Amino acid sequence: MPSLNDIRSTFLGYFEKNGHRVVDSSPLVPRNDPTLMFANSGMVQFKNLFTGVETRDYNRATSAQKCVRAGGKHNDLDNVGYTARHHTFFEMLGNFSFGNYFKTEAIPYAWELLTKEFGIPKEKLLVTVYHTDDEAADIWKKVAGLSDDRIIRIPTSDNFWQMGPTGPCGPCTEIFFDHGDHIWGGPPGSPDEDGDRFIEIWNIVFMQNEQFEDGSMRALDMQSIDTGMGLERIGALLQGKHDNYDTDLMRSLIEASAHATSADPDGPGKVHHRVIADHLRSTSFLIADGVMPSNEGRGYVLRRIMRRAMRHAHILGAQDPLMHRLVPSLVHQMGAAYPELNRAQALIEETLRSEETRFRQTLDRGLRLLDDELGKLPEGANLPGEAAFKLYDTYGFPLDLTQDALREKGRAVDTEGFDSAMAEQKAKARAAWSGSGETKDAAIWFELAEEHGATEFLGYETEEAEGQVLALVADGAAVTEAAEGASIAIVVNQSPFYAESGGQVGDTGLIKTETGAARVTDTKKVAGVFLHQAEVTMGTIAPGQGAQLSVDHDRRGAIRANHSATHLLHEALRRALGDHVAQRGSLNAPDRLRFDFSHNHAVTPDEMSRIEAEVNEYVRQNSPVVTRIMTPDDARAIGAQALFGEKYGDEVRVVSMGAQDGSGKGTDGRTYSLELCGGTHVARTGDIGAFALLSDSASSAGVRRIEALTGQAAMDHLRDADRQLGEIAGILKAQAGEVVNRVKALSDERKALANEVAQLKRQLAMGAGGASEAEEIAGVKFIGRTVEGVGGKELGGLVDDMKSQLGSGAVLVLAEADGKATVAAGVTADLTDRISAVALVQAATAALGGKGGGGRPDRAQGGAPSLAAAETAFQDARKLIEDSK
Ligand code: ALA
Repeated sequence: MPSLNDIRSTFLGYFEKNGHRVVDSSPLVPRNDPTLMFANSGMVQFKNLFTGVETRDYNRATSAQKCVRAGGKHNDLDNVGYTARHHTFFEMLGNFSFGNYFKTEAIPYAWELLTKEFGIPKEKLLVTVYHTDDEAADIWKKVAGLSDDRIIRIPTSDNFWQMGPTGPCGPCTEIFFDHGDHIWGGPPGSPDEDGDRFIEIWNIVFMQNEQFEDGSMRALDMQSIDTGMGLERIGALLQGKHDNYDTDLMRSLIEASAHATSADPDGPGKVHHRVIADHLRSTSFLIADGVMPSNEGRGYVLRRIMRRAMRHAHILGAQDPLMHRLVPSLVHQMGAAYPELNRAQALIEETLRSEETRFRQTLDRGLRLLDDELGKLPEGANLPGEAAFKLYDTYGFPLDLTQDALREKGRAVDTEGFDSAMAEQKAKARAAWSGSGETKDAAIWFELAEEHGATEFLGYETEEAEGQVLALVADGAAVTEAAEGASIAIVVNQSPFYAESGGQVGDTGLIKTETGAARVTDTKKVAGVFLHQAEVTMGTIAPGQGAQLSVDHDRRGAIRANHSATHLLHEALRRALGDHVAQRGSLNAPDRLRFDFSHNHAVTPDEMSRIEAEVNEYVRQNSPVVTRIMTPDDARAIGAQALFGEKYGDEVRVVSMGAQDGSGKGTDGRTYSLELCGGTHVARTGDIGAFALLSDSASSAGVRRIEALTGQAAMDHLRDADRQLGEIAGILKAQAGEVVNRVKALSDERKALANEVAQLKRQLAMGAGGASEAEEIAGVKFIGRTVEGVGGKELGGLVDDMKSQLGSGAVLVLAEADGKATVAAGVTADLTDRISAVALVQAATAALGGKGGGGRPDRAQGGAPSLAAAETAFQDARKLIEDSK
C-alpha cells in the first residue's frame, strides 16, 4: 500500500520524467496576490505566468502545493472533523503548462498516470467537461475510450474554475472515481451528486481567460494548463479507504492525539481527534511560513483554527496543553517533504504551547458561561449575539468556535446580534479616540484603521509583495487619485515595508500599480496603519488598484545588520560593564547604529576594545538568529531583555542570537542575546559582516551613547583609520607601532618649548632696564611700560617678575598681542593697603577708553579697546599713586 509520501513522489516523478520542472511549494502566504489570504491551490504561485506578466526558464512544471482553505472564497473550516473529505490544510498535486501544451496532452498525461502508474481500473473512472467543450469530450473518447454516458457535460460554474474574484480562469474537466453501488450517491450533475459514491479526484483547468474586478473577462494570449489533485483524496483511494482521515498520514496524527489524551481514536472522541489532526497541520504550516497568532487578518485566522483545536483537546479531557506535544509526529511524517517544518519546529511548539496555556485560562469559564446562557434559553433557541460577543471579547472565543460548540447541541448563534455588539464596541472606541485630543491629522489614520484594519506586515519574510491600495492621503485628507509629482501617503492592506518603530528607521523603496509608480521615502505607522510616504514619479495611482511593493534591498540589508549588531552590543556591554546597563534608546539606520544605555562613566578604551572584540566574535560564530513569539511574561521569564516602561501587546517577538555554553540566557542557558524586538534581523550573525565601535560619549546624566558601524561601513572605517595612521607614521618617519610614543614625545617636547618661549618673551619684555628703570612717585617705586607680542596669559608672569625685581613698588603694563590690548597691574604686598592693583588697572583702562578690569589688590588685569592713549594711562596711574600719599 503506497503511503501519502510515496504517492506524492510518484506524481512528481511522473511529470518530471515527462519534461516538467519540479517546483517547490510556495509559502502559504501568497507573495504575488493581495486578494488572497492563503495559497488555496497549486496555481497561485504561477498566476502571473498564465497571464504572461512573468516568464521563467521553464514552461512545464509540477508541484505539491501546501494549501489552506480557512477564509475567503474557499473556506472549509466549519466542516472539518465532521466529514470525510474536508480539511483546513491539504496538499494539492498539480502539473502546469504555460503556453506549452494544452488539452490534447494534458488529458493523456492524467489518464496514463491514473490508470498505469497508480493502477486505477479504467471502468471505475468517469469525467465531466464544460457543456460546450466538444474538444475535451472528443479527446476523452479517443484517449480513454470512455463511452458518452461517462463523459458528463456540466453547464454550471462547477466546470469553470476561478482562483478568486480576479485572475486567470477557464473551463475544466474533472475526473471522478466510482466507489461502487454499495455507497449512496449519483454521478455528477444528477440530483444525488452530493452522495459519496462518485468522488472527484482530479481537476484539469484549461486556462484561457482572465477575470477582472468589474466582472469583464478577456481571452489570454496563450492557452495553458493548471491541474489539481488533492493528495489526501487520491491517497484514500489508493489505500482502499473511503475517508481521507483513514490514510496513513492522517491516521498517524490521529493516533498521536489519541495517545496523548488516552482517548480511543475511534470512540466517541473521533471527531475531536480529526479536528486536532487537521488543525495541527494547518497551524504548524502557517507558523512555519511566518504567520503568528494575532487579532487581525491572517494571524486571526490562525488563532481561530488553533483555538478551535484547543477546545476539542479540552473536550477530550486533556489536562495540559496538547497541541505542541503532537508536533514531533507531524514533523516525522512531513518534515522530509517540507523541510521548513524541521526548521521551524521549536517555533511551532513554543507558539502552540503559549497560545494553549493562555487560552485554557479562560476556556473553562467561557464554556460555563455558554452553558449558563443556553440554560436560560427556550429549547432550540439561538444564542443571543450579545452572549457570543462577550465570549469573544472577554474569553477569547472566536465566533466560529462558539458556533462549533453550539453545533454539537443543535443550536446556532444570532450572528446579526453579534455583529451589532461588535459595531457598538467599535463606536465606543472611536468616541474614545476622537475625544482624546488627537490632532485632526491623526484622526484620518484612526478612521482608516477602523475602516480597513491594521496593515499586515509581510516584511519579516519578504522584501517584495503585492498589496492592494486602500487609500491615499495628501495633507491630512483622503484623495481619490494622485498624479506625477504629488506627495502622498499610500495605505495598502499588506506590505513588506517596515514602519519606523523600536529605533529601526522606516523602509524606502518602490510602489507600482498598473497606471503609475511612486518612490517611497519613508514608512511610518499610526494606529496600526502603515503610511508609505511617497512621491508619485510616473502616471497616476488610485485606491482599489493592485500594487507591487518592493523594499530597497541594500538599504534594508544594512539596517538589518545594524539592528542585529545592536543586540549583540547590548549584551557585550552588559557583560563588560555590569547588569545595570539597560537600553535607553537606539537608532538603527542604514549607515550606522546608535545605542544609549544607563552607565555613569565613560567607557574606557580597554573596555571599548573588549566589547568590540566580543561582538565580532559572535559575528564570526555565524549562528542563526531565531525569532519566537510568546507572551511578554513568558519572554521575561526566560530572561529576555525588554525595554522598561515600553508597552507590549499580548504577543511579543523574542529574538535570540549567539550560542555559548552554560552562562547564557534562555531555558537552556545557551543563548547569548535574548531580546523582545519587533524589528527585522539578519538570518545569521555572520551576515553582520564586521563590527566597529566609533565613539562613546555622554548623552545625558547617567546615560552614555555609543555609535558603531557594521559590514562595509565598518570595514571602510577601519581601512580609513589605518590609512591615516600610515600617513602619520610617514610624516614622523616612524613605524606604525612607534607612532603613539613618538606623538607623546612630540607633545611633551612641544609643551617644554612653549614654556621656554613664554619665558623668553617675558625676558624680552622686561628688557635690559629692570629695576633701574623705576621712577619714584611719592615714595613708591613705579614701572609703567608698554610691551608687544605678550598675550594676556603671559602678562601675569611678567608683572610678577617685575614686582620681584622692584622688591617694593607698583607696576603697570600695557600689552598688545594678536590685535588685542591688555592692561595688567601689580602692587607688592607691603603697599596694597595704600594702592590697589585693581584701582590701577581700572584707571588705566578708563584712560584707554574702556571700562572694567579686575583681580586682587596685588595683581589685576583688564582689556582695553587700544593702546592709543598709553601716555594718559600712565599719567593717570602716577596720579593715583601720588594721591594715595
Ligand atoms: N486550480 C484548480 C483547482 O484548484 C486545478 O481545482
